[in-house]
Amino acid sequence: MENALALTALNKSFPSHKVVDGISLNVPKGCFYSLLGPSGCGKTTILRMIAGFAEPDSGDINLNGKRLNGLRPYERPVTTVFQSYALFPHLTAAQNIAFGLERRGEKPAEIAPKVKRMLELVGLEQRADRLPANLSGGEKQRTALARALVVEPELLLLDEPLSALDPALRKRVRLELKQLQKQLGITFLFITHDQEEALSLSDQIAVMNKGKIEQIGTPQEIYLAPASRFVAGFLGAVNWVDGIGIRPESTRISRQKPDPTAKSITAKVVTSTFLGDCFHIETTTEKGAAITAQVPFNEEPFAPGESVHVYWHPADELPVRE
Ligand SMILES: Nc1ncnc2c1ncn2[C@@H]1O[C@H](COP(=O)(O)OP(=O)(O)OP(=O)(O)O)[C@@H](O)[C@H]1O
Ligand SMILES: [Mg+2]
Repeated sequence: MENALALTALNKSFPSHKVVDGISLNVPKGCFYSLLGPSGCGKTTILRMIAGFAEPDSGDINLNGKRLNGLRPYERPVTTVFQSYALFPHLTAAQNIAFGLERRGEKPAEIAPKVKRMLELVGLEQRADRLPANLSGGEKQRTALARALVVEPELLLLDEPLSALDPALRKRVRLELKQLQKQLGITFLFITHDQEEALSLSDQIAVMNKGKIEQIGTPQEIYLAPASRFVAGFLGAVNWVDGIGIRPESTRISRQKPDPTAKSITAKVVTSTFLGDCFHIETTTEKGAAITAQVPFNEEPFAPGESVHVYWHPADELPVRE
């Protein structure tokens, strides 16, 4: 697939330390691409360099064949949605959306239908004339998204755009965001430290740690075949048994010795927690290793102190060692 964004050997240091350390990645056209990593790993710094708010110490930023290094932010065909929305408080939702088109010198007659279409697209037709102070968090977020999309950027940068929303709204806006991206076909570079968000939204994910990329792949690839212990642990819970990693949802428990095709170890139940669709059962082995298993809710519940066999299928072992 043709690439939209190409970052090549990007470096950036602040006096304290090197924050972006030799980052290279390619974002295909029309892709929903996420940068996923813990707080402080350099995600926002990369985004700021792409948008033109900061310059790299070295390395190239290319978008659809054009080199962006050194260009002013407004000269780059890129827009950004920030966590804080950054709406103009004295402008209505519609005026916020129109702002970028006006700055480009478009005529009111051209601007009006574009703004109307964007308001419809994000479901804010009824809120067009409200000031940001009179919009809910989700509505502000959608206004910010509409404002960034209306100028038809070649690349939309999103820096943790959902993190100020409450969990229920966050899930709903997440779905809308994905639908909007597919509908418009615009390339998205989405930044998050939330693995569930990255897994559910992305076509491709680059997992970062301490200024470097640990792995690039589809959500399935990085979850099922993590390239490092860091990626395995950052993407989800892992049971480490004698150096072998198994995810809790692939770990089972039984009172009888399991089928010999499975690998097993004896353990004692520590706690059993009902989660609605399953039980989370924490156990410890004789060597003191903690192993968590997920068990369907209709099985006879396991009691703390009970001796059990913890087992898994070798095919479910992660390809990395502890
Ligand atoms: N202008 C600056 N001057 C000095 N240090 C900075 C500057 N901007 C960022 N840093 C440092 O660079 C590191 C990476 O910051 P960055 O904002 O890129 O992280 P992040 O991955 O976006 O984290 P978060 O998930 O918390 O937003 C941090 O240690 C931060 O303190
Ligand atoms: Mg950040």
